[in-house]
Amino acid sequence: MKLLSAIGALLLAALPVTAASRSNIVTDSTALACAKAVFSLPSVRFMHKVRAKNPHAQISVLNLPKGLKWNSKRQIVEGRVSKEGNYTYQVKVKEDVKQHTEDVYFTVSKDLQMPRPFMGWISWNAVQSEVSEPIVKQVVDLFHEKGLYDCGWNYVALDDWWHAASRASNGLPQPDAKRFPNGIAAVSKYVHDHGMKFGIYSDAAETTCAGAFGSYGYEQIDADQYARWGVDLLKYDYCNAPVEKDSAFVRYKAMGDALRKAGNGTRLYACEWGDRQPWTWAAEAGSNCWRVSADVRDCWNGASGGEGVLQSIRDMKSLSAYTGVNRFNDADMLCTALHGTGKSSNDLCGTGPGMTMDEYTTQFALWCMWSSPMALSFDPRSQHITEEDYALMRNKELIAINQDPMGQQADLISEKDSLLVWAKDLENGDVALSATNLNDSEQYVTFSFKQIPHMEALKRFHVRDAINQIDFPVEKGADGFTVSVRSHATVVFRLIKE
Ligand code: GLA
Repeated sequence: MKLLSAIGALLLAALPVTAASRSNIVTDSTALACAKAVFSLPSVRFMHKVRAKNPHAQISVLNLPKGLKWNSKRQIVEGRVSKEGNYTYQVKVKEDVKQHTEDVYFTVSKDLQMPRPFMGWISWNAVQSEVSEPIVKQVVDLFHEKGLYDCGWNYVALDDWWHAASRASNGLPQPDAKRFPNGIAAVSKYVHDHGMKFGIYSDAAETTCAGAFGSYGYEQIDADQYARWGVDLLKYDYCNAPVEKDSAFVRYKAMGDALRKAGNGTRLYACEWGDRQPWTWAAEAGSNCWRVSADVRDCWNGASGGEGVLQSIRDMKSLSAYTGVNRFNDADMLCTALHGTGKSSNDLCGTGPGMTMDEYTTQFALWCMWSSPMALSFDPRSQHITEEDYALMRNKELIAINQDPMGQQADLISEKDSLLVWAKDLENGDVALSATNLNDSEQYVTFSFKQIPHMEALKRFHVRDAINQIDFPVEKGADGFTVSVRSHATVVFRLIKE
């Protein structure tokens, strides 16, 4: 184990911007229930929530680099490190008489691949097999016309089914010639010429979920071709691949390594649906974000196996210690503006398909509180996109919470009477608070400041209602405030430091 860790540390030192190559990661037994490979941009405030699997264990932290300190009350490492480099610090976990120490790999670099969760559009939910050059161009144009690009929506990604029936005779991947008559490079160029980033899809097996050719055994060939095409993001699915975690790690790492070798800085977005707890290993395999769940459906409550908003909450709520800058838990595509007109997003819905505006807003607000990547998935040809939808997608105050440079995921503070209260630390010392009402009728929620550890250092502040983008009056020195929340709605407040 020692030898493996040493090899890992050496390899890590050779790779400045990822934590990849610790080949022992999957077999490592760990007492920790938090990220073990963490990242920061130089001088940007950093936070690492340190959690043990045993909630009664005592935790302490050793050998922190200059600029970081251990906040034992909140069990977080926090601070700012200005000097770029690969650091290692140790977490000591003491349970009764047992105690052991584990390494945390901490990379500070100005060249991180995904300092903030990506925002953009993915073709799957509504477009599926019709994805084509004209549709991509339409998305790009619409994002500019409607002001979405100016709000930060800047990725456009092809999901499954962009493919030809088979690879070219020389083994290179190739697109469907009818839908992409000018090839992928032309589409990528159009996206880049409009200041955006381009994404593509493949699968860590011989075939993708929809049955197209996958990348297993072709990792370097594909990564090199993606680099030539100027691909910025690869969504890498896991259909038709072996179930064990170790195999998944090896397959994702093979693609992570190939992309790095290809040299275009393509980000790896792992999509194995959370089945193998990718939050514990996907960063080490070279991924910047990973799906935590099955495919999101356009509904509040999914049928058995379906992922409505309620199921996304279930799947994200205990993962906040695994998200951070350059490593994001992904709750899948947003259903904003679909209104039940999607394709596979309409399946497995217990209450849908389609949601109320309060429900769409709840989904959007939670993704922002969670620092989840945000991929819109509506059909640009749809007549059903409303001005209210665009207003939500352009809500800069919510988006700022999603794109906060400290990259934290909100913690669930309380869950009672079907009210979920969340709190999120923000880089400049502000705190975001939200509450979601799962009940079928309106309820009041009280935010009690003393019960919110995130407010420990926040003494003087004023309050903004981030959904309505207005100031919200709260008396100075008050120990909390109460508001009503409509059924299935969410309220979000930013407590702004004075
Ligand atoms: C899986 C993924 C989806 C989508 C489809 C494409 O189901 O989870 O997001 O990429 O495959 O076939």
